[in-house]
Amino acid sequence: MAGLFGKKKTGAPGAGENSLPERLPRHVAIIMDGNGRWAEKRRLPRAAGHQAGTEALREIIRFSSDIGIGYLTIYAFSTENWSRPQDEVGALMALLLRYFRSEIDELCEKNVRIVILGDVDGLPTAQREAVLNAMERSKDNTGLTLSIALNYGGRQEILRAAKKLCERALAGEDPAAFTMADLESGLYTAGMPDVDLVIRTSGEERLSNLLPWQTVYSELVFDPTLWPDFTKERYLEDLRAYAGRDRRFGGRNGAAGK
Ligand code: FPP
Repeated sequence: MAGLFGKKKTGAPGAGENSLPERLPRHVAIIMDGNGRWAEKRRLPRAAGHQAGTEALREIIRFSSDIGIGYLTIYAFSTENWSRPQDEVGALMALLLRYFRSEIDELCEKNVRIVILGDVDGLPTAQREAVLNAMERSKDNTGLTLSIALNYGGRQEILRAAKKLCERALAGEDPAAFTMADLESGLYTAGMPDVDLVIRTSGEERLSNLLPWQTVYSELVFDPTLWPDFTKERYLEDLRAYAGRDRRFGGRNGAAGK
């Protein structure tokens, strides 16, 4: 594994400031909030905030991969984000396209598998092709799974999964026998573990329709940092906060973790 901060590690992580916590989440989801405020503080267009946010993202993906996080989900564009002014939506779409085209080589080198959560068919043609290509190229990679919530809505995802069960019922299956695993098999995250830790930056404290099914027992960390200022050092702080939580999953004595 690469050193925590880019250099080769000397010895096992100890109690030092930059050491990894003993218990790492398997699945981290990040709501990358605060790009707009970051830009406004600098009297820059909001698009500049999103661009700066992409730089922060690059560092967090690399670091997640280096420390052995299994699944990293990032909230890139929600179904509600289409209601933003057209120029901002256009800037975000252009950024996404550049991102998928420019990062795919490095992500594949790092053995990262890319998964898209959301309605890919609802994306403009160029973006759709770029994300499908990224998924196809990286599908056999065995390292970090980077799942990108793109044109994603949590309630829409549950409705879509419910419709799949309705289709199965119409085809003759007994709906009384359906289990939670049956519903989960229709989610975009089928086969992935539930989210252990949600980090939302910028000080806002809500989940905004991100993975409502998969986060029922997630630990939540609300980090005041605006996303473009988010660093691996901040990330490590949030991972430490997670490691200090007592997860009970509705039971009593600690860590039933899944
Ligand atoms: C929320 O900040 C952020 C977004 C809606 C977009 C997040 C996108 C990126 C970080 C970059 C693009 C992603 C990829 C995968 C290339 P906000 O605009 O709501 O900020 P504000 O709350 O300060 O206005």
